[in-house]
Amino acid sequence: MNKLFTRMMLFTGIAFLVMTCGRGNYSEKTPIHLNPNMDSQGKYKAQSESNFFVDGASMRTPVEGTVARGELRADDAFYHGKDASGEFITSAPMDVTAEMVLRGEERYDIYCSACHGVKADGKGKILFYEYPIPPANFYDERIKKLSDGHMFNAITAGWLNMPSFKAQVSVEDRWAIISYIRSLQKN
Ligand code: HEC
Repeated sequence: MNKLFTRMMLFTGIAFLVMTCGRGNYSEKTPIHLNPNMDSQGKYKAQSESNFFVDGASMRTPVEGTVARGELRADDAFYHGKDASGEFITSAPMDVTAEMVLRGEERYDIYCSACHGVKADGKGKILFYEYPIPPANFYDERIKKLSDGHMFNAITAGWLNMPSFKAQVSVEDRWAIISYIRSLQKN
């Protein structure tokens, strides 16, 4: 019994030494990785080179003539504010509801009011910081006459000195904001 105990102690001692020896030391050899947990796996990083594909690029473009699920944007009026001939549509391609205008007000206050002003008179807080180009005043006759499609495009693509808000404001919300601006212009 005693002998067995000594052996077990000796074994544990050696095992401990083997496991802990050399920790923190540098080695040129690949460490033994008992549970790799998918830490190292073959993968391509964005924009990296590939010698598998003929064109040498790891990032692939969609197969020609295909559309990813949920990405079909065939409705020109809704997604681009344009009609079939590519002209800007004069009014929004949906019925304007009270909810839509309220949603537009909320989104306008978040994304547009800093420049165009809470009252839409072009006197947003940004003027206080000496923004070099005056943001449009939505009560200007010229702006009142802009088509809904043109406004939609200004939000989507940006307009002269105004940045694009495509990333921040969804397509539905862009139309909602326009409906809100129109409701203000009627007053
Ligand atoms: C960072 C400031 C800024 C924000 C935020 C901003 N705009 Fe503008 N916007 C401008 C400026 C500046 C102009 C005038 C651009 C010019 O004439 O160079 C402008 C012009 C416009 C015009 C007039 C386009 C034309 O044809 O003259 C519309 C419409 C417009 N903005 C809508 C919006 C809407 C809607 C939002 C919110 C989603 C928004 N803007 C947010 C700065 C801003």
